[in-house]
Amino acid sequence: MAHPAADPSPLTLTGGGSLRGTVTVPGDKSISHRALLFGAIAEGATRIEGLLPAEDPLSTAACLRAMGVAVSPIEAGQPVTVQGVGLDGFREPEDVLDCGNSGTTMRLMLGLLAGRAGRHFVLNGDASLRRRPMRRVGGPLAEMGATIAGRDGGNLAPLAIQGRGLQGATVRTPVASAQVKSAILLAGLTADGPTTVIEPVQSRDHSERMLRAFGADLVVGGAGNTQVTVTPGAALRGQHVIVPGDISSAAFWLVAGAITPGAELTVQNVGLNPSRTGILEVLEQMGARITVLNARDVAGEPVGDLQVSHGPLQAFTIGEELIPRLVDEIPVLAVAACCAEGVSRVTGAAELRVKETDRLAVMARQLGAMGARIEEHADGLTIQGETALHGAEVDSETDHRVAMSLAVAAQIASGTTRLHRPDAAAVSYPTFWDDLERLRA
Ligand code: S3P
Repeated sequence: MAHPAADPSPLTLTGGGSLRGTVTVPGDKSISHRALLFGAIAEGATRIEGLLPAEDPLSTAACLRAMGVAVSPIEAGQPVTVQGVGLDGFREPEDVLDCGNSGTTMRLMLGLLAGRAGRHFVLNGDASLRRRPMRRVGGPLAEMGATIAGRDGGNLAPLAIQGRGLQGATVRTPVASAQVKSAILLAGLTADGPTTVIEPVQSRDHSERMLRAFGADLVVGGAGNTQVTVTPGAALRGQHVIVPGDISSAAFWLVAGAITPGAELTVQNVGLNPSRTGILEVLEQMGARITVLNARDVAGEPVGDLQVSHGPLQAFTIGEELIPRLVDEIPVLAVAACCAEGVSRVTGAAELRVKETDRLAVMARQLGAMGARIEEHADGLTIQGETALHGAEVDSETDHRVAMSLAVAAQIASGTTRLHRPDAAAVSYPTFWDDLERLRA
């Protein structure tokens, strides 16, 4: 196998064979971004262990460096140090801040920069990011007094932010999005009074946990923890952050292990924050053989090792309430559904249309090319199992999670699959292809 991490040429994947062994997935992407960003606005140094050395966190680090924050080199296995510049210490960058493919970088940065009075910032990204909706952040920030301009009435990057003093506000978000919630909380840190975010359903809560650990005055309440209030004034202090493995990356091995005949895999050091473990509940609903071992707490986040082995699977039903807890795992669950008995259904998942790609359309198209009986709806998917997949010409369409989901599908497909643009995986899991090669028995 050529090394696709840096090579955009198509990759040939041969179906059949099994998967065996132990894998340690790279650091959680959401937690990695936050550790860099919160470290930057704290007083003193933040030391980060296990930071994800992938393209998305590199984009966040590059933006911070452009505003005068010293971030040590990001290399696999090496701790990273961020020298905080304090809540209002960002220097005005001389050039456009490039968020690459990373929605988290752009949305959290909008919240962080909107209140930097007297400074001007321009955020841009790649072709995918320039198509993604930003008004969901710009709208609430405007309620706090922010000035953000961009294409489509401020919805699309490039976005220009004229920093100014912000007012505390109570903001109801129409979508359960941790990116939106986090942006508002970050803006609230320097507003003139408390800011409350109310979500329809709780989204991942890494920001709340980590901001508290850094010293922010933050209260979580409401039914199902849907209400978060930040009160400005508390000083943030640099911390020692330990980033657990990303359950969204572990998901590829959990599904691969559950659907590949004879497979036995152990995924070590996986973050098991309850706001992220929807995938485990769905796999359980399917009857997958998964065991959590060595459950522990690491630096404020629950962590465990996961063992998975192949077995018969039943179809799943996923509705709106569960989506925020497995929003990034739907593409690989669509692969699992092909191997399950019965009809699997996903509804309330329109959010997938505004991810790195339109993941409902892309998965229907690409898995469909491999023989999946998959139907796309406005807000979800219907997938008929059990369906034998066959090798085909497929394309990640530049989406990292699509690339890895199709690799899992290719593993159980008959014949060979040619995957175009496999290099997309480097956005969140640069060593995925090496791990796949090693685990193939
Ligand atoms: C993320 C939140 C999710 C997720 C994304 C990372 C985060 O997006 O899809 O990969 O780090 O806050 P939304 O919050 O927009 O659903």
